[in-house]
This record gives sequence, C-alpha cells and structure tokens, in this order.
Amino acid sequence: MFQSTTTHHILTRFLISNSRSYILVTLIQIIDMAVRGSFSSRAGFILAAAGSAVGLGNIWKFPFEVGLGGGAAFVVMYLGFAFILCFPVMVTEIAIGRKTGKNPIGAFGALGYAKWSIVGKIGTFAGMLILSYYNVIAGWALGYLVEMLMGNFDIGNNFSAFTTNMVKVVFYTVTFMSITSYVVGKGVAGGIEKVAKILMPTLIIMIVSLAAYAFTLPHAMKGLEFYLIPEFDEITAATVGGALRQAFFSLSLGMGTMIAYGSYLSKKENIVTATALVTLTDVIIAFIAGLMIFPFVAFNNGGDMNNLVSGPGLLFVNLPGAFESMGPTVGVVVGSFFFLLIAFAALTSTVSLLEVPVCYVVDEMKIIRSKAVWYVSGIIYIIGIPSLLGFGVSDFFTNSIVLPASTDFLSFAASIADTLLLFGGFCIVTFAAYVWKKENLVEEIKNGYEDYEGSIAHKFLNITISYICPVLLATLFIIVVLSHFFGISLI
Ligand code: TRP
Repeated sequence: MFQSTTTHHILTRFLISNSRSYILVTLIQIIDMAVRGSFSSRAGFILAAAGSAVGLGNIWKFPFEVGLGGGAAFVVMYLGFAFILCFPVMVTEIAIGRKTGKNPIGAFGALGYAKWSIVGKIGTFAGMLILSYYNVIAGWALGYLVEMLMGNFDIGNNFSAFTTNMVKVVFYTVTFMSITSYVVGKGVAGGIEKVAKILMPTLIIMIVSLAAYAFTLPHAMKGLEFYLIPEFDEITAATVGGALRQAFFSLSLGMGTMIAYGSYLSKKENIVTATALVTLTDVIIAFIAGLMIFPFVAFNNGGDMNNLVSGPGLLFVNLPGAFESMGPTVGVVVGSFFFLLIAFAALTSTVSLLEVPVCYVVDEMKIIRSKAVWYVSGIIYIIGIPSLLGFGVSDFFTNSIVLPASTDFLSFAASIADTLLLFGGFCIVTFAAYVWKKENLVEEIKNGYEDYEGSIAHKFLNITISYICPVLLATLFIIVVLSHFFGISLI
C-alpha cells in the first residue's frame, strides 16, 4: 500500500514538473516519510489511536475513580468533559501533528513558533513520567495473569505481599516495558498498528463477554446501582477536577500523543470523524468496564458496596476472590481472561506513550528507531525506580521521603502527570486558536473533509477551541492545583 502510493506520487510529480529541485525536494520528503513511517490505513490509525486511549485508564482507573468520586455523578461529569473539552483538544492535536509531520516538540517549530516547543517538552516529560509508573501497574496485571493461570486466587488477600515482592515486581515491570519497546522498535505500521489491529478487536470481545457474564452473578444489581445512580451531593471540587483529569488521561490528551499519531496520518483522512470514533470507543469501553467491575466487586463483597477497597488496589484486591467463587475451572478461565484483557489494553497504551519520546529522538537527533527505543526505555526505567520501589519494596522510597498530598511515589507521579496534561491541553488549544490561528487549523481539517467549513462540526469546534476549552481548562487547572496539592477547595 505504502509502496504503491509512494511510487505513484514520485511518477506524478516527475511528469508534472521537470524542475530538478522540485524532484529532489519530493524525494527528500519521501525518504523522510519512509524513515519516520506512517499508518497504512484509516482503520489502522483509528485502532491505534483508540488503543492508545483505551488502557489502564479505562479498566483500572475509571472504576476506582468512580468509587472514590461519588459513583454515577462522576460518570456524568466524565462524559460531559469527554465530548465538550476533550474531543476538540484531540482534533487540534491530530491536526497539528498531521500539518507538521513532526513529533510534539518539533511540531511547534515547524509551524514557525519554536518558543512554544516548551509545551511539547513538558508534554513529553509528562508522558515519560506516566509510562514510568504505568508500567508498574501493567506489570502487576501480568503477574496476576500468571497467578490466575496457576489458580492462586488468594493473591487478592495478598495484594501488598505481591506489590512488595521485589523480584516479582521488577521482573514483571521489566518484561512489560521490554514488550512495549519491542513493539515500538518495529515501527508505526509494522509494530504499533499491527498490534492494535489484533489486540483491539480481541479486547472488545473480551470485555463485552466478561460484562455479560458479570451480570449473571448474585448481587450484580447492587454493584450496578452503585455505579449508575448518581448522588449529586457528593460532587466536590475534587470530583469535578478528578473527572476532568480522568477524561484527559483516558483520551491520551495534553502531552502530544495525538500530535505524534497525527503526524503519521494521511492527508486523505477526515480528522473529525476519526476523532469522534476514537472518543466514542474510549468512552464506551470505560463505561462497559464499570458494568463489568462493579458486579464483580458486589459479588465478592456479598452485595455490600460501603466498605470498598478503593484506589489503586480496587480490582487487584476485590476480583480474585470473585473469580475463586466461580469454582476452580471457571475461575481460572475468567480470571486469566480478565488480567489478559488488562495487559492487552495496557500494551496499546504504553506503546503510544513510548512513541512520543522515540519519535522525537528519531526526528531531531536522527537516530534510528531500533536504537532510539532502547535509549529512551533506559531513561524511563530510571525515572520509574521510585514508583517501582516506593510501593513497599524499598523502605527508603516508601517511607523516607514525605510527599505532599499523596502517600506513595506512584500516586504522586500520577497526580503530577495528570495535572501537567490539563496544562498541556490548555496550551495546545490556546496556541491553535490564537497563535497559529483558527484559519490554519480549519485549512488542515479540510484535508479529508472538504465540506468542513460552515458545517455543524466546524461551528462546534470553533466555539469550543476558541472560548470554551481555554476558559474551562484554565479554570479547572487552577481548581485542580489548589484542591489537589494545597487542599484548598473552591467549590
Ligand atoms: N489513555 C491511556 C489509558 O487510558 C493512557 C495513555 C496513553 C495516556 N497515552 C497517553 C495518558 C498520553 C495521557 C497521555 O490508560
């Protein structure tokens, strides 16, 4: 596919122009494209972008945030934010990426605003920070998969013994990160896209079947009630901020992942419909994850939803017991299926997180991908040490360093990164609307969507990108910083 379009491209250009320099420029562009790589099809891009979005954020984080943040009231806010604030930010990121064909740091310079590349730098740093702790949790899922296969359901009661077992956590984290590096090393079409094409459809089948099965369990209704009936009086600054951070995180926004993925997208594709599909897939999967997890949790707790273990341990503590009650054979099958699902979801996200710094090193330092991947991974291992060992493995990282507003390094790294994403999102839309200018954004979106100008999508995106996103993101950013890091609640 790539080969034939490229050849076609060269020939047409050759025929229409005899100018030597023109041919030279075209050839350079083509070589550049071949070095950077690109998605081979529209479906490939959508699956890869949806794969980035759907991850631990949907299956592990969304349910426990719902548990902490007042159940359904949180879900309603999350949905609102996803469509009103996140969708426009995603369109903007993809458009900037496709226009420039660059990584998030180089993209701003390519548009002529090199000073703004600081936004890309902060984003790339945030992404590396996310990956450094994300890997640890993905490693837990991998470890739990092995425990389930061995029928060790007791692991749920021994969650902290598991997370403090140095050999196990180091082994699983390093294994997971190495798989990620291997995939990214294989390139955009040959690695990232290929993996997404296999894993995403599998994941959808798995999650729907698991949710359907969860409905049939005793006390399932109790779990669903908790999940779906809003208690609006539980809304506080922390829940509003939490819902927004969750939406940003879940849609992989604010750090430039979508700029990087956009840079591999063909000019023929319609960015608006692709983004709508990615957003919908992500939100639907998060929603189904809740439909699956809460009945499991209710089943395990005999219908009592009051004293849940919430926070990062929610599913690791609660679910193995539920699997055990299903009997030895069904339990092993459902339990392994479940943790395999989480590992799959995590992998399509970790590759997208690693892709951003790798793409930067390939573009700007001209180092080949297969090497760049391992250099960047090395740095991520180092940044990840406190998160890896701070969950009980090392006394120094667990107890000696007192962190503000948070108990352990992993959660602290997560809060810093999440907050940086909001800042990044604010900067990206503000940049697009007022510095790069709306007209240029519209021109880019029109590639692949000729009737965009004047359409409803255009009107909606115009208002959101120019006014609603910058104002709300700036306000919510301030609310989040005050409530999360200083304990000051404005609502
Ligand atoms: N969205 C992913 C999840 O829900 C995580 C992720 C991948 C991410 N790439 C990102 C989060 C970029 C923020 C920014 O698990």
